[in-house]
Amino acid sequence: MKAVMYIDAVFTVGSVDRRLFGSFVEHLGRSVYTGIYEPGHFTADSKGMREDVIDLVRELNVPIVRYPGGNFVSGYRWEDGIGPVENRPARLDLAWRTMEPNEVGIDEFMHWAEKVGTEPLMAVNLGTRGIDAARSLIEYCNLPGGTYWSNLRRQNGHADPYSIKTWCLGNEMDGPWQLGHKCASDYGKLAAETGKVMKLVDPSIELVSCGSSKFIMPTFPSWECETLEYTYDIADYISMHDYFGNWDGNTPEYLALNLEMDSFIQTVKAACDYVKAKKRSPKTMYICFDEWNIWFHNKLEDKRRMKKNILPAGTPLLEEHYTHEDAILIGELLITLLKNADRVKIACIAQLVNVIAPIIAEKGGKAWRQTIFFPFQQVSCFGRGKVMLPAIESPTYKSERFGDVPYIEAIGVVDEDEGHLTVFAVNRSLNDDIDFQIETRGFGKCRLSFRTEMISDDLKAENSADSEKVRPIMIHEMRSEGRTFDFRLKKASWNMIRFDLS
Ligand code: AHR
Repeated sequence: MKAVMYIDAVFTVGSVDRRLFGSFVEHLGRSVYTGIYEPGHFTADSKGMREDVIDLVRELNVPIVRYPGGNFVSGYRWEDGIGPVENRPARLDLAWRTMEPNEVGIDEFMHWAEKVGTEPLMAVNLGTRGIDAARSLIEYCNLPGGTYWSNLRRQNGHADPYSIKTWCLGNEMDGPWQLGHKCASDYGKLAAETGKVMKLVDPSIELVSCGSSKFIMPTFPSWECETLEYTYDIADYISMHDYFGNWDGNTPEYLALNLEMDSFIQTVKAACDYVKAKKRSPKTMYICFDEWNIWFHNKLEDKRRMKKNILPAGTPLLEEHYTHEDAILIGELLITLLKNADRVKIACIAQLVNVIAPIIAEKGGKAWRQTIFFPFQQVSCFGRGKVMLPAIESPTYKSERFGDVPYIEAIGVVDEDEGHLTVFAVNRSLNDDIDFQIETRGFGKCRLSFRTEMISDDLKAENSADSEKVRPIMIHEMRSEGRTFDFRLKKASWNMIRFDLS
């Protein structure tokens, strides 16, 4: 079988916003407690933050991290997490039925974010709280001083404002499981008024209006159309969330699920543009895909455990161990986000550490890279620049849900400043290697710089603290020069091919 990819210098999708490779830390399971934070751990800094985890997060090159939830934020009192730790109250978090000790709050998270070299995507509680809590939080975070809340931040040892740029107006407010779940018009009104007040405190911020929490929500896409009636003028982005899983063990169908993500994005774009037209607005609403990942391995078991007892802080929840086939799908989902880079400006793989995460931090032990770490890391580090319009001729297979699915999924990104063209490609075939030709046009001569592939004989292979079985390996071949290049993509593989441009 043979596939051809044409990359023409003239045809681009748009520029990649660096925030497309964001992630998420929620007060949930071991994401914070024994994840990013474990005082007494052999790598902990003076504030209890694990340096081994920080090193791995830096490897991922994550420019923005959503915090503090997720479902957690919809019951959160942010004031519980500031000031002397010994005075902070323990609270019952009802989203995950877990005790929250409030040892980590906004100031500790900002210390961590600064060390990592990332910016926060801060969420406000529009479930059990509203305008007043949001305005005091932004005053605490973004004003230099001279007001009650900004002076309190200074008293707490943080003289400079955090100047947090991007804020989520609540989380998954369309979901009946959400504390303070609302109908579209109630959410739209509250979000618009909260956003208005937040922008009065700091006009330089950007806001994310809540979109649908899943593609299969019964209220999708009317939720988008109705809420944007209220929030279109005040918000800069609408959020999207989606999680994928190989629920019935049908891997060819599973590996087509990035097409669901694509169709979800196309519909959200259409809903935004409908409201734009209705309002005669010159403004384009961008997308913040602030939760996406694979989540199915332990989902039902976790639900059962949460139903029973109140869990102590740092109880493992949502600890998915990812396989080789999961990593292939993550690669495809990243390709899909890149294909939509003109509209999707922020995206967060959910989450970052321990909870449905590329990084596992063993309590008192090592931190290590799951299989999905690698495609994310490669795209985050090398997928910066301009996305090229993909034109691919590929053999296909039949999917029950998606019809004809191409075996090859690929995208090219050009970094004009550094002079590189990088192609990311997946071969979805479980049985056949496929010849893959890349024909470049309008770049002059290109030179193959290097190529990596991630393969495995076992689709269910996982990594562990002691063994990184699944990871990309460098393919050593002639550094040929020209316009057309021939490769062979192994079955069920994730590939990166990098060229130098002359
Ligand atoms: O990321 C885990 C959970 O998934 C988040 O708390 C919630 O927003 C989503 O349903």
